Amino acid sequence: MNDRWATLLDAARDAHALVPALQEFCPFPTDIREQSVAAHHDPLCDAMANDTRLTTDHFTAFRDALIAAGPLGQWRDTYRHTSIGEVLHAHFGTYEFLGRDAPFGTDQMRGFMVYQTPGYHYPMHHHPAEEIYLVLAGEAEFHVEGQDSRVLRPGDTQFHDTNQPHALTTHNTPVMAYVLWRGDLTTKPVFTHPEALT
Ligand SMILES: [Fe+2]
Repeated sequence: MNDRWATLLDAARDAHALVPALQEFCPFPTDIREQSVAAHHDPLCDAMANDTRLTTDHFTAFRDALIAAGPLGQWRDTYRHTSIGEVLHAHFGTYEFLGRDAPFGTDQMRGFMVYQTPGYHYPMHHHPAEEIYLVLAGEAEFHVEGQDSRVLRPGDTQFHDTNQPHALTTHNTPVMAYVLWRGDLTTKPVFTHPEALT
């Protein structure tokens, strides 16, 4: 196991201990097994590593561990095949480090690093898994269909219920978040209003 993965696991465990909302959503997994995962590079990995605007007070170690492990991660192409896929993936990147297809295998949850560059709106989407976002660095505006939008900063969390449509807008700063899934861990997200995408 690469040291960078081990450092990241420690940082994630610390976050679960530090943030009650994470602990309530999902205790840190107890069934972790090491798995080999083929790295899949994404240009956003380099953008994230060079981004000086990912400021944070309390999650410096977690942020730095996510950046350091970035080149080892299997960055996802979830929406690459869609009409807005290339644009979306030029601004939004993610890799999994806890879960089914991750270096730390577990059946109890999935845990992702999410990074979005400034000035992008990631459209409404939904999935059966329940989800919580913990903002680690930067900030973003979170939207849940039918609710007022909220700007989240490091330490803030946002819960999404099963199939509850949600979206994410960055303005002048990027955002890095730790995203956890529980429940249905296999069904992929889909856009809520695909007909509205251009
Ligand atoms: Fe989501």
